[in-house]
Amino acid sequence: MSADVGFSKGLAGVVADETSISQVQGDAGRLIYRGVPIEELAENATFEEVTHFLLRGELPSESGLEATRKALLDGRSLPQHVESLIDSAGKSAHPMKVLQAATAALSFSEGVVDLKDKEGNINAALKLTAQVATAVARFSRRRRGLEPVAPDPSLSHAENFLYMIHGEKPNKEEARTFDVALILHMDHDFNASTFAGRVIASTEAGLISSVSGAVGALSGPLHGGANERVLQMADEIGDPAKAKEWVLDALKNKKKVMGFGHRVYRTMDPRAKVLRSMLEKTVAQKSDTATYEILLTVHDTMIEQLSAKQKDYIWPNVDFWSGSLYRLMNLESIDYTPIFAVARVVGWCSHIVEMWQDNRIYRPAAKYVGPESAQFPGLQKRSS
Ligand code: ACO
Repeated sequence: MSADVGFSKGLAGVVADETSISQVQGDAGRLIYRGVPIEELAENATFEEVTHFLLRGELPSESGLEATRKALLDGRSLPQHVESLIDSAGKSAHPMKVLQAATAALSFSEGVVDLKDKEGNINAALKLTAQVATAVARFSRRRRGLEPVAPDPSLSHAENFLYMIHGEKPNKEEARTFDVALILHMDHDFNASTFAGRVIASTEAGLISSVSGAVGALSGPLHGGANERVLQMADEIGDPAKAKEWVLDALKNKKKVMGFGHRVYRTMDPRAKVLRSMLEKTVAQKSDTATYEILLTVHDTMIEQLSAKQKDYIWPNVDFWSGSLYRLMNLESIDYTPIFAVARVVGWCSHIVEMWQDNRIYRPAAKYVGPESAQFPGLQKRSS
């Protein structure tokens, strides 16, 4: 077979492997986790329950859920060397770089992979999920010149994360909103970071090493890094009255508006819909809503302009509304992509556990566009 048969720039539309964890149905604007629509999980499930569901492939019984909760609680502390590494990062280091390094340092204790030890790999995934949250919260506080806050075993994963960030317990409503935001971000079939994690894991490198690579992939502005950029854009615009003009100017100059567009969705991202509705409820209770108002005008102008340009397949994605919601929860924009990782780590690990049940190294072909045959003249004979 010729190497360029099936070539598709950016792997668009290429089916790279099988998964039963989640599916993005781009034309329908539908996302399912193991068959269950994301809206249903957002309405009725908890982070702990969905974590169990994604990792194990079945909804937990009461005792199963208790075991998952306990594993997440027991895993919350960080080894000393990882605490020291986080504490030694300068305040100007981007938290995603710190998280990638912290995750790599967590892998120091990782042994040889046993692909068939599904239970052992799930337990490692639960511990890592807990530790990623602690690492993100620790660096967030260090960056702000604050002492880290120890995890509180009486709190759920979402509550405890907010507690470790703010140093005070969230109210029930805020904790539930955050819990749902985490559920929405947990998995998204073969997104770039999950694919990166799967590529690494396919070589039988460790689970934690693979997740460390996935963190790096998530950090880019075309992927998870977009949520931080959306807030930078809102801050740059500064005033709802200036938002329309800003968007018109951006489109005229072929600048991408962050938080819009998706490789697979050709209509509204269902996660953006749920986030927007949670945001509207939160906004109704707050007085400082300038960011929301700016983004609302950006949103409406984009929809109006894109449909006029026959680009009505470009819609807001998950990153468009999340930051505005997090800001109303007093979270800083530089922490938004790490917060994405706090959720997505469950998806990354679920994919690795799944693929190790029937692993084959990922090694695609390249379309070679270099010369077929070239000379190798000695150094003296080469023109400068
Ligand atoms: N603003 C303006 N125009 C856009 C945007 C946008 N955000 N996104 C896509 N377009 C336009 C492109 O300019 C291009 O137009 P053209 O055909 O006239 O050249 C067309 O839509 C197709 O865009 P591509 O970039 O080729 O689409 P691709 O599938 O390669 O990229 C991506 C998808 C990376 C998400 C892109 O839409 C983008 O960069 N969006 C902004 C960043 C962002 O929000 N990323 C988060 C995605 S969700 C996530 O990863 C969690």
